[in-house]
Amino acid sequence: DYEKGISELKKRIKSFPNFPKQGILFWDIFSAISDGSTCRLLQSLLVQAVKERYPEVEAIVGLESRGFLFSFSLAAELGLGCIPVRKKGKLPGEVVAYKYDLEYGSDVLEIQKTVHPGLKCLIVDDLIATGGSINAAVQLLKTCGAEVIGCLTVIELESLKGRSNIPEDINIYSLITYD
Ligand code: PRP
Ligand code: MG
Repeated sequence: DYEKGISELKKRIKSFPNFPKQGILFWDIFSAISDGSTCRLLQSLLVQAVKERYPEVEAIVGLESRGFLFSFSLAAELGLGCIPVRKKGKLPGEVVAYKYDLEYGSDVLEIQKTVHPGLKCLIVDDLIATGGSINAAVQLLKTCGAEVIGCLTVIELESLKGRSNIPEDINIYSLITYD
């Protein structure tokens, strides 16, 4: 069942201390999905989570780059549109941009203006740390007039309090949480 699957998945995701720099514990989704049965397990858990928690969803919005792994596979399985949020300068046509602060410097994310007002969007990414990336995606979608029905991630690092950087009305669900 679902809970059994979640605890199995948790066992398969490894962390790497001091990567990419000293003091950071890196949770690595790629080492887990190098195994075929883990790909299938993860996909099935995400599909179940969407069907149960976000049944009204009309489009899946994935964040570059690790979020793309899950946004396309979910969208294809559910027969929904797959919309990318990308780093600046990668998307053609009219785009909306959002600049946000990082520990050092800042970053800009963009979305194509083809997202139409009222579209019920679910944001998907591998992980919530500070919540800055998810918040940027929320702001981009709101600028387009889309309806953000929630945010689904594989992992949430609770000690970083990412939820405090994301608007309260966004329904956030993560398969796995770590302290
Ligand atoms: C990582 C991760 C999330 C984001 C989480 O992406 O995949 O997208 O950081 O951090 P936040 O909650 O503090 O914003 P990264 O920018 O490293 O790029 P990648 O997905 O291309 O590896
Ligand atoms: Mg990322």
